[in-house]
Amino acid sequence: MSGLFITFEGTEGGGKSTQVALLAGRLRELGHHARVLREPGGTPIGEEIRHLLKHSPANAVMMPEAELLLMNASRAQLVLEVIRPALTAGEIVLCDRFYDSTTAYQGHGRQLDLALVKSVIDFAIGDTRPHLTLLLRVPTEVSELRRNARQAATAGPRDRFEEADRAFFHRVERGFQRIAEGEPERVKIVDATQGIEAVHEEVWRHVAPHLLPLGEQ
Ligand code: TMP
Repeated sequence: MSGLFITFEGTEGGGKSTQVALLAGRLRELGHHARVLREPGGTPIGEEIRHLLKHSPANAVMMPEAELLLMNASRAQLVLEVIRPALTAGEIVLCDRFYDSTTAYQGHGRQLDLALVKSVIDFAIGDTRPHLTLLLRVPTEVSELRRNARQAATAGPRDRFEEADRAFFHRVERGFQRIAEGEPERVKIVDATQGIEAVHEEVWRHVAPHLLPLGEQ
């Protein structure tokens, strides 16, 4: 694997997609080939799975086990079809959520057995692991406000995840915290309550050292 693989994680409302876009723009200005992906999704198969998971009217009765497997079906497709070839070609891959979201949402949030969750993830990704993960953190109240506002503002279909209760999101947050504590070298916590530019600069401080081996900064 010769490229660079960076993932963004966190609960809703941390501005992940804005930060992914800002980072991609800066990397491209410096001449890097930056590819932006999201999970679930990122491939034609993955985007269909995303719809099934989030918005399909049929998903009201989806079981946590099915959710876990669908997340990882989308992920396996994305890794094999896009991420691995891009890294082999030396690209920088930025992914809006990756397997830490499964540990946090399906493991801690839905309370599936963490060892089982890990083995499903391992099957889906093999040795394709992020070099750096940025955990954008906002207080519970901020992500709750963001979720409610999004639900109220969208004329589109409901989002099953945003309907989950407060206790679920507390467990997800604690899950992300434990992941960061367990792997401080890979997972960097970023205070996402700051302004967009300040968050971007903090993100950049974590990313820049990883660019040196790629030969440009
Ligand atoms: P988002 O892309 O708008 O953040 O929506 C993705 C939703 O899916 C979000 O609520 C988090 C959830 N999710 C999981 O539960 N497990 C996963 O592995 C991933 C990637 C996302």
